[in-house]
Amino acid sequence: MEAVAPQSPAELTVTSPEQMRDLGRRLAKLLRAGDLVLLSGELGAGKTTLTRGLGEGLGVRGAVTSPTFVIARVHPSLGDGPPLVHVDAYRLSGGLDEMEDLDLDVSLPESVVVVEWGEGKVEELTEDRLHVVIHRAVGDTTDEVRHVTVQGVGARWAGAELGSLSA
Ligand SMILES: Nc1ncnc2c1ncn2[C@@H]1O[C@H](COP(=O)(O)OP(=O)(O)O)[C@@H](O)[C@H]1O
Ligand SMILES: [Mg+2]
Repeated sequence: MEAVAPQSPAELTVTSPEQMRDLGRRLAKLLRAGDLVLLSGELGAGKTTLTRGLGEGLGVRGAVTSPTFVIARVHPSLGDGPPLVHVDAYRLSGGLDEMEDLDLDVSLPESVVVVEWGEGKVEELTEDRLHVVIHRAVGDTTDEVRHVTVQGVGARWAGAELGSLSA
């Protein structure tokens, strides 16, 4: 297999939860069935907030919330778009392979799959993915400023125009 050169990431600064949600809506425009979006960042970084906007952008049913008691939640499309599968990987001990065993009522290749992942669990993944990393300023617990990096990994994202995200 030919190596795909890494895409240069889009770097964004987000200053409120509303802006984070808006970023999710813009991100949704880039997505299609079969895509995997990986969200990294500490607890409270804004991963679920971003996913909420993504769900709105995709036009799916049901409010996106933290999947606290479930590993994954399926949000079917209200139109003819792909469903959103929202996964909390804090509850996935065996990595993404485990998702195949979840018995979701949708097929992952026909869905947009968004995984909230903790920091440092990403290395084991090799597939095409859009990797979003959210951090807040170190030591800052009240500020609403978040730094967001969006990087496309793999052939799916080679040549993708991520610059539109900063609009
Ligand atoms: N710029 C921001 N982006 C996202 N969330 C923010 C921002 N500033 C403050 N917040 C707050 O931080 C919290 C993020 O929570 P959540 O999205 O559930 O994070 P995570 O899923 O990463 O644990 C929310 O209470 C949200 O209102
Ligand atoms: Mg969350």
